[in-house]
Amino acid sequence: MKIFKNKHKLYNEIINDKFISFVPTMGGLHKGHISLIKKSKKFKGKILVSIFVNPKQFDKKKDFNNYYRNIKKDLKVLKKLNIDYVYLPNIKDIFSFRTKNKVYLDKFSNKLCGKFRIGHFKGVVDVINRFLEIIKPKFIFLGIKDFQQLYLIKKHILKRKIPTKVISCKIVREKNGIACSTRNKNLNQKHLKIASKIYKYLSKVKRGSYKKVSNIKGDIMNFGVKKIDYLEFYNLKTLNKSNKINKNNKIFIAYYLGHTRLIDNI
Ligand code: PAJ
Repeated sequence: MKIFKNKHKLYNEIINDKFISFVPTMGGLHKGHISLIKKSKKFKGKILVSIFVNPKQFDKKKDFNNYYRNIKKDLKVLKKLNIDYVYLPNIKDIFSFRTKNKVYLDKFSNKLCGKFRIGHFKGVVDVINRFLEIIKPKFIFLGIKDFQQLYLIKKHILKRKIPTKVISCKIVREKNGIACSTRNKNLNQKHLKIASKIYKYLSKVKRGSYKKVSNIKGDIMNFGVKKIDYLEFYNLKTLNKSNKINKNNKIFIAYYLGHTRLIDNI
């Protein structure tokens, strides 16, 4: 496993690799990240994992500072998985060059998380655009857990005609149903129980009995949630908001347990 902190050194190493599979992360690696890496192993070529907590995608400085980091542990995990390359840039390495492509932000960026985290998706697409220009991967692996992020990165790649194929990866959950997330590290036992209850409850809502969104929100608040940013149904084909749940729809939620903001889609 080769570790790079400098884009020029990385670039020189991989310049002749035509089949790089790229898995971008912010570290604090968990089973969700590992599933993306395992999926990338099914593809031909080398695997490159990046770890970079991107300040531009945090709308709150406190959230950026509190974001869980453990590079030493992450590197151990990656070594065990037999990854070819790890890229650990600093802010300057990523943001100090002029990009060939401008960030393209589809209008779906104004919905869901975009309404509550101003500048977040611009920061995400910006950093991914930069990674793609440095690495030029054949494939990029992204999780459906961050559905809106996945969609917006896909749109950017399509619009800017970037020759990288997006591979969508399914949501990995803990035994109690909670979607794996680095942010779960900030939850206490009480929070974990509530998060699990919410997942089970929303799975039930998804399976059947029609309920008004306001009633669902009320039930979730009663579980002990501090704040719900949104709870909305979206049709996955049209990306239109819906007031009913059916097989073409998903429930999207963002809520707070203590100071920790969690998102999920079911
Ligand atoms: P991060 O939250 O570290 O997630 C890295 C990748 O892992 C993303 O594609 C995300 O969707 C996926 N992922 C996270 N939890 C998952 C789960 N439970 N199941 C499956 N996949 C999961 O998302 C980011 O970092 C950043 O925004 C990034 C894309 C790296 C840009 O900075």
